[in-house]
Amino acid sequence: MYNFDEIIDRRNSNAMNVEGFRSYIFHADESMKFPYKDDEFVRMWVADMEFATPDCVLDGMRRRIDRRIFGYTRVFDPEYYRAFSGWCQKHYGWTFPKSELVMSNGIIPALFEMVDYITKPGEKVLFLTPSYAYFKYAAEYHSREFVCSDLINSNGYYTVDFADLEAKCADPATALFILCNPHNPTGRVWTEDELRKMAAIIERNNMWVISDEIHCDLRRLGTTHIPLGKVMLDYERLVTAMAPTKTFNLAGMMISNIIIRSEELKATWKARH
Ligand SMILES: Cc1ncc(COP(=O)(O)O)c(C=O)c1O
Repeated sequence: MYNFDEIIDRRNSNAMNVEGFRSYIFHADESMKFPYKDDEFVRMWVADMEFATPDCVLDGMRRRIDRRIFGYTRVFDPEYYRAFSGWCQKHYGWTFPKSELVMSNGIIPALFEMVDYITKPGEKVLFLTPSYAYFKYAAEYHSREFVCSDLINSNGYYTVDFADLEAKCADPATALFILCNPHNPTGRVWTEDELRKMAAIIERNNMWVISDEIHCDLRRLGTTHIPLGKVMLDYERLVTAMAPTKTFNLAGMMISNIIIRSEELKATWKARH
């Protein structure tokens, strides 16, 4: 039985969550004082959890540690694809060919790279706002203009303003839509109907889309995650980003799965990795 009530001391484990907030949020050092003690804060600023990584994952890591050498590493074992695609099939009723899977040391680095590979100078990157900030940072890093389509807030329940999204996608310079599915920070798990409407707009405008699905396993009971790839079955210009890091509280392992349909984009990615 997993013990969700156990309080695990993360001090002195180089945890960003515990020791990094002064530098990360405030660009300050230890001299910065708050009216509360550090351990009185409810640390919800960075998206990792206070729950232990499950035993089956720890056992796998221990088996790997016992091999004792940690040289340059890549996943060569086909078992990785089998396990991950099996997870997708079981949990989302969707899967993808092995040839589409590449790996990245995190979705953030992949986003930065993808903006560069997909868009040309003068083209724009669109996302739904409020938004996880790194979509904007990825666009800014490559000097791409970003376009925001504000969600409609009805008493805390956010929905897409489809007329606004449609108008912004109709701009031929808007080449890339970064979708957060489910959405950070509103927590919305997009419905099939919403995803189909977004897909129709993307297809009509022949846009690229990155579907960042990193939070897809953390849902309330009774909700289902629908990968955008399940709605856009044959759409070439789709990149899906997933990871075990939120699901199993493994963010420090810096591992993520990027599923690239376009042969050309995959060739660009592979040429640089
Ligand atoms: C929507 C979203 N994408 C990506 C990330 C970070 O991804 P990674 O740790 O794989 O770089 C986060 C982390 O909070 C996130 O909320």
